[in-house]
Amino acid sequence: MKRIGVLVSGRGSNLQAIIDAIKRGYIKDAEIAIVVSDVKDAYALTRAREARIKAVHVDPGSYRTKDSYEEEILRLLQKEGVDLVLLAGYMRIVGKRLLDAYHNKILNIHPALLPSFPGLHAQEQAFNYGVKVTGCTVHFVDEGIDTGPIILQRSVPVLEDDTPETLADRILKEEHKIYPEAVKLFIEDRLTIDGRRVRIR
Ligand code: GAR
Repeated sequence: MKRIGVLVSGRGSNLQAIIDAIKRGYIKDAEIAIVVSDVKDAYALTRAREARIKAVHVDPGSYRTKDSYEEEILRLLQKEGVDLVLLAGYMRIVGKRLLDAYHNKILNIHPALLPSFPGLHAQEQAFNYGVKVTGCTVHFVDEGIDTGPIILQRSVPVLEDDTPETLADRILKEEHKIYPEAVKLFIEDRLTIDGRRVRIR
């Protein structure tokens, strides 16, 4: 049984998609051991507690450095025997402490077709740029901002009457499909990183 730790900052709909995928048996032999939020009142923490998953707030403001903040997160993850870390709307750049401890074992979901529109407000960035197609990406996390090897992507057309909000809603629906898919592939040990390329068996 693989143990998953999820880092969140907000509403947690991607967390919910993973919880549901495990519950309905789409992702097998895995359980979410802990959810950690850097934001105290993140709704994701409520979702975790409702699913009877350990949910913890770690306040970055209580630590003198990013490293000591991540050391606490690492302590929590290791205490729960976490093998795989998922970023699900976690709005911080992961530092060396976590990256070294979980090398090629941290995944992220991003609401654009990387390498286009990394960073914050990706859906709005894409909308304002005027692209006709955008989408979402699940990738391994490395030291850059949304730069790690890509596992899965799904495209979403930009419609004539879209607003940044309607576009973000349609992208989110695809996120909820590809994140569980990518987690399933990881859990089943079907991913190999070959340079920038992720091979799927
Ligand atoms: C999602 O759209 C996710 O792709 C995005 O934040 C949202 C979180 O929603 N992540 C990023 O922008 C990371 N740079 P959720 O809390 O409902 O899963």
